[in-house]
Amino acid sequence: MTNQDSTQQEQTIHQHFAPCLAEDWPRLPITRAEGIYLYTEDGRKIMDFISGIAVTNVGHNHPKVVAAAREQMEKLVHNPVGIVFSEPVLKLAETLPAVMPGGLDMFFFGNSGAEAVEGSLKMARYVTERPVIIAFKGSFHGRSYGAASVTSVKSKYRKHYEPFVPGVYFAEYPYPYRCPLGDSDEIVTGWSLKSLKDIFDHYADPSQVAAILVEPVQGEGGYIVPPAGFLPRLREICDEHGILLILDEVQSGFGRTGEMFAAQVFDVQPDILAVAKGIANGFPLSATAARSDLMSRWLAGSHGTTFGGSPISCAAALAVLEVIREDNLLANARAMGTLLLDGFRSLQVKYDLIGDVRGLGLMVAMELIVPGSDKTPDGQAAAKVLEGCLDRGLLGYMAGHDGQVVRLMPPLNVTRAQVEQALEILENSLQALG
Ligand SMILES: Cc1ncc(COP(=O)(O)O)c(C=O)c1O
Repeated sequence: MTNQDSTQQEQTIHQHFAPCLAEDWPRLPITRAEGIYLYTEDGRKIMDFISGIAVTNVGHNHPKVVAAAREQMEKLVHNPVGIVFSEPVLKLAETLPAVMPGGLDMFFFGNSGAEAVEGSLKMARYVTERPVIIAFKGSFHGRSYGAASVTSVKSKYRKHYEPFVPGVYFAEYPYPYRCPLGDSDEIVTGWSLKSLKDIFDHYADPSQVAAILVEPVQGEGGYIVPPAGFLPRLREICDEHGILLILDEVQSGFGRTGEMFAAQVFDVQPDILAVAKGIANGFPLSATAARSDLMSRWLAGSHGTTFGGSPISCAAALAVLEVIREDNLLANARAMGTLLLDGFRSLQVKYDLIGDVRGLGLMVAMELIVPGSDKTPDGQAAAKVLEGCLDRGLLGYMAGHDGQVVRLMPPLNVTRAQVEQALEILENSLQALG
């Protein structure tokens, strides 16, 4: 790409794209992608260690996924579910229960993560006939109104949009690194659950709560892994009060944590599960999943979609499930996740701007702080590290309230050599920062 081309591209972006979406980093001009690599117009080959924001879990343009979608496209492109049913959407609904956390066997298919969350919230209110939803501080659930109403990672995502959907309260997410009382599992869990009890005591009687909505690993919030006992304890509290537990696994689902779902890592059974992103490796598809005894109470006409459950996306999703199983990708995600996390830990020993390192499976992050400070988040340092990585051929991304978290989420079939190369690039980029 010549300088003139890149100026032209920037001009087009500024003239024709809504800045709320397009003014992101790094606006890479790419022509194609394959596996873990992005190929830019100016001939660069970049390692995509963010998998298109945790979407291309089996790698870009996986041949089996592309073939399944192409074959389906020749037969049928669109099925408005309910009016017609195609083979891929039927087969996907039959196949998914075997990989879902126990018992989730009924689905509402949509197109995006936000839609899966909207469906979860609407269904929870509908079947319980209760008004209140409890979410967590630092959460990200999407940009549509319902999903934005339960999102609190940044006030920027909420500015000028009030009033939101009413009846939403936020509890503290169990964030070990920033819990004011200490970082032991017991203290962090207790701190979070105390804030939930405060909501029950002061704002919303539990009998009025339809659902508690939680990301089992907070994604945009900064890849925050809760203590092991937190989600099971939340499950008990929900059972005590007849509250539905909704897990948002839009980002953590489909193998990313080393199990098919984080629910299985934490051994917790959700009532409702919201999934999207990795489900079809880039084809738009999402699902709100629940047990049939619950979801069958969400009656005809009370929710709907035109495009949800596209036959092309469902055919792709079936191929994704096959690839994950046949290529043993859960085991690879666990092994490569450990390698990456160990690498981050070694870097933390050397660089005092790395305040915390954490992760689960192939969701791995480091939180950057001003050295010597009281954990002051350093988003600028994170931006510089990421810029340095990109200059050296590695795409990573930021997260966290101040953008202070550098996160990597490569495809589940990433190799040892690629992880080692990424760690070397990251170290060079940290070194260059001085
Ligand atoms: C946990 C979580 N939920 C929901 C969403 C929204 O998904 P989408 O952008 O597909 O609407 C995201 C997107 O990043 C997410 O990470």
